[in-house]
Amino acid sequence: ATLHAFVMAMPKAELHVHIEGTMEPELYLDIAARNGIATPYADAEAVRQRLRDAHDLPSFIGIYEELIAAIRSAQDFRDLAMAFFAKAQSQGVVYAEVFFDPQLHLERGIPLAAIFGGLARARIEAEQTLGFKARYIMCFLRDRSADDALKVLRDSAPWRDEFIGIGLDNPEVDGFPDKFAAVFDEARGMGLRLTTHCDVGQPNTVAHHWGALDVLKVERIDHGLNVLDDPKLIDAVRERRIGLTAAPTLFYTEIPGRMEYRAGAIKQLLEHGLLVSLNSDDPGMKRSLYIGDLMLRAARTVGLSRDMLVQLARNSFVTAWLSDEERDAYL
Ligand code: HPA
Ligand code: ZN
Repeated sequence: ATLHAFVMAMPKAELHVHIEGTMEPELYLDIAARNGIATPYADAEAVRQRLRDAHDLPSFIGIYEELIAAIRSAQDFRDLAMAFFAKAQSQGVVYAEVFFDPQLHLERGIPLAAIFGGLARARIEAEQTLGFKARYIMCFLRDRSADDALKVLRDSAPWRDEFIGIGLDNPEVDGFPDKFAAVFDEARGMGLRLTTHCDVGQPNTVAHHWGALDVLKVERIDHGLNVLDDPKLIDAVRERRIGLTAAPTLFYTEIPGRMEYRAGAIKQLLEHGLLVSLNSDDPGMKRSLYIGDLMLRAARTVGLSRDMLVQLARNSFVTAWLSDEERDAYL
């Protein structure tokens, strides 16, 4: 088979994708129009032009928050998630654990019932109509307070069965990870699974990785490419069987060497025998590249062998929050 056919046909799990960041420009405009929200963009190309202003995490997050403000109703959340599930399935993804950022919506006056209601409908519909299985991960914004995260976690008790774990995203500002120790302790006590972003290019990244492991006691790290910066960290991640949900995503703006760096780091993590997987992160807002597309680009950029691509897919199921029976059925 061609590499393209091989990659697309291989069953894969997506473990690092933000439902808000899957919103394609066309869907953004549809949702804004039906909600009567005026946008400065005449068409999808103009939205893509705006997305070209993203060149690092803070500049990306600014645009992400601007576009997400169009989302209001349960129907919007349902449509957003269904569009992603269908797109992921078209590239061979059979299972997804999907982040959502409730604080981004609560801060705009959108109630938890609309968020969970829409996400739950999409999850059930995807299972029934596509045979696609998904679970959700509640992600807290690290630049907001730990008290706010705790409040959102507690307020979500009525929907406890609709999310399997918690995570942290947004730029890594002062205080992370110690700041969230109590939130993670409480979530662990509720039987929730634990992960956190440790993104590329953030300050104190090695210390943050250690804090994620030893203070937050996470089972996975989202991105995690900087594990390579500390040989002791490489050993700890291997011994503790921590999943690294890497994402070689590209902004609309070309950043020289970005794919080379990320794909190269993924290759090195594989060579160290770590449980790294390859994920899409924010595909709708970062060049519409989904897992299959990204695997192909990464493979072509740094020469990942077919065995390595199989290992990435295998790692995605090994580190997914599946029951043993579910995992056996996929592997
Ligand atoms: N890193 C941090 N915050 C985010 C990301 C990410 O990759 N995507 C959406 N919010
Ligand atoms: Zn992310």
